[in-house]
Amino acid sequence: MLKGKDLLSIHDLSAGEVENILSYAAELKFAQKAGLTHHILEGKTLGMIFEKSSTRTRVSFEVGMYQLGGSALFLSNRDLQLGRGEPIKDTARVLSRYLDGIMIRTFGHERVVELAEYATIPVINGLTDLLHPCQVLTDLLTIREHKGKNLRNLKMAYVGDGNNMTNSYLYGAAKVGMSLTVATPEDHKPDQTVFENALEDAKQTGATLAWTADPFEAVKDADIVATDTWASMGQEAEHEARKKIFAPYQVNAELLKGADRRVIVMHCLPAYRGEEITEEVFEANAHVIFDEAENRLHTQKAIMALTMVD
Ligand code: CP
Ligand code: NVA
Repeated sequence: MLKGKDLLSIHDLSAGEVENILSYAAELKFAQKAGLTHHILEGKTLGMIFEKSSTRTRVSFEVGMYQLGGSALFLSNRDLQLGRGEPIKDTARVLSRYLDGIMIRTFGHERVVELAEYATIPVINGLTDLLHPCQVLTDLLTIREHKGKNLRNLKMAYVGDGNNMTNSYLYGAAKVGMSLTVATPEDHKPDQTVFENALEDAKQTGATLAWTADPFEAVKDADIVATDTWASMGQEAEHEARKKIFAPYQVNAELLKGADRRVIVMHCLPAYRGEEITEEVFEANAHVIFDEAENRLHTQKAIMALTMVD
């Protein structure tokens, strides 16, 4: 279904394609744990363009490609001509002559869209200022593992900055029919267009999506609470100011009192303890958070195998 396609946003996927990615990721996870060879992408090469830092995305894509029998190239914008101003549309056409797929992490979402427009091979979004689809698909797999396959009866809350993770959670929840309430300050809401698109998608699945400025209201009876850094990559200069703005949105023991007693807390990492999450809450949920980190590998292997296979 996804053969030859790009993965830029969960919004572009059908509910069936999301389900396919998640179930294939679970299969590949089983195969890897069982030591079964699964060289689905033998002889293929993925180029990984990074215009921002990364630990998980870089390592999980590179190892994932290796486990699928292919290889991956790390391409930093510090070394590429792209970093010296070569147009993205030329880079796309050149790389398409050598590679079988491109993963890109960058700032403006329009850069990924342009890359995909000019590339003749699948392009995977490894994070933009607007979206982080690979992480949210991973989170859906992790929620299925911890809360069961039926995501429709689950209530999720996202508390903190309305950023790329929030936007992708809205798209993800809409596709799987999950209830999601986002709590952010009034001036840091998720992207308006994304919210509208997600509400449209939600009509197909019955998902309920809501925004509130009150973190306690969002977390009430939640099965899952997620948060993310208050200062995303590119916002480093605002970090101190943002600490004050977001202080009422910390995920701590007091906030979680109103959640379901079996609540799990998720974090895409890197985490800033004492800011968006307390040390205590982080460590009590470390088993979930590091499953979430591991699942990047399995989910992205599924994405690469489904899009890059012949
Ligand atoms: N969660 C995530 O994308 O981590 P990295 O920034 O380390 O890739
Ligand atoms: N919102 C964060 C996610 C990091 C994985 C950022 O963009 O920096």
